[in-house]
Amino acid sequence: MRRTFAVSTARLRIMMEAFRGEMRRGLNGKPSSLRMLPAYVDRPTGRERGTFLALDLGGTNVRVLQVDLPGDGRLPVCAEDRFVLSRDKVTADGSVLFGALARFIGRFLRERRLSGRLPLGFTFSFPLRQASIAGGELIAWTKGWTAEGVVGRDVAALLNRALAAERISGVRVVSLNNDTTGTLMARAYLDPDCDAGCILGTGTNICYRERTSEIRKPVGPHGRDHMIINMESGNFNAVLPRNRFDVLLDRSSANPGLQAEEKMVSGKYLGELARMAVVELCGRGRLFGGRLPEIFSRREAFGSERLSEIEKDDSASADGVREFLWDWGARPAAAGDARLLRDVVRAVSGRAARLAAATLGATVTKNDPALEAKHSIAVDGSVFHKYPGFKARMEETLRELFGGRGGRIALAPMRDGSGLGAAVIAAVAAESAKTGGKKPGAGW
Ligand code: GLC
Repeated sequence: MRRTFAVSTARLRIMMEAFRGEMRRGLNGKPSSLRMLPAYVDRPTGRERGTFLALDLGGTNVRVLQVDLPGDGRLPVCAEDRFVLSRDKVTADGSVLFGALARFIGRFLRERRLSGRLPLGFTFSFPLRQASIAGGELIAWTKGWTAEGVVGRDVAALLNRALAAERISGVRVVSLNNDTTGTLMARAYLDPDCDAGCILGTGTNICYRERTSEIRKPVGPHGRDHMIINMESGNFNAVLPRNRFDVLLDRSSANPGLQAEEKMVSGKYLGELARMAVVELCGRGRLFGGRLPEIFSRREAFGSERLSEIEKDDSASADGVREFLWDWGARPAAAGDARLLRDVVRAVSGRAARLAAATLGATVTKNDPALEAKHSIAVDGSVFHKYPGFKARMEETLRELFGGRGGRIALAPMRDGSGLGAAVIAAVAAESAKTGGKKPGAGW
């Protein structure tokens, strides 16, 4: 299995070259697996100030935040509530989803006794085609979401309509952004070296700062010389080292043919890849004496959190892994089985970390091939924060690819940045409205 999931340095280099090629094609409006979506916002100055609401939607955990931006170098102050969206809300009709979001916001306002006019920044962690900072259409659902009637619609307008239907008249969406952009903006508010954002969680994606002169495809009016570009890098599919498990996983997914890199790297899929490898080994009689434990027998039953648990035990005996298997209801496992299982898991997560590092390396070296400058990449997501050794393996890969200069790419952990970032973007939208730009959320 180690070989099945191995990716050589040479292969990573070829992949990086292909990635930069896809970036250029996407910016030029040519067919590319990277969507290269302009976000109509540049890095903040750090002087943006005021009180904003933010809605952070990307997984089943929804966050509503009230953010005070001081604008003088001090840390922003956030108050937040989390709400859980039940599975039916993300797979039923879009009106059910947006109605639930509006009610969450209503509850947040009541509980915190907030009233008056509150501009809201909306983080929507899916591919968005924007023509301005104030709105954008959903291009396609990813990460297993399927709510009907939303693809092709302006999600900021859908939320504004749902707020009106709930008679929440003081709140209006003034800006819309992807979670990668939110994460970059949250970090950049205090860190001027931050020029990219990355999510390594349920899904994966990268955004970065680009000169607008490099964007040759038609874009809406923006008046900026730099903009953040949401690449939707999870959809990257050129020269990826896919194996038989990747092909199988893709076929049984909700979006076959799409998000190839995401399906090799992100938390939604890592457990399933490992499970399929276990099933194969067991079928060949090499694991668990050929008798598959229940936990590996159903699709998606073996989640990525379980992989983390397994890798937490790095003892030679793998006794911890045997205990976990026992806790998860498997028959007592032999030490050899526990070790082989851990090898499979390491192979899957190791490949993910290497691919994630290479895509970030490719992103940064498009405009700085010799890594002359320092780049700080704001990174958020459960895989990055919680998976044992993931960050270290990414850093090791960056050194393998760029030698000492790999250290100029700093992976800066940014927890829950996408909510705060949405508020920073709302503030940027408000600033540009003041300085003569188009009024965000016109008509309010
Ligand atoms: C998926 C979405 C993308 C998002 C990423 C991380 O790849 O398509 O927009 O940034 O997940 O949440």
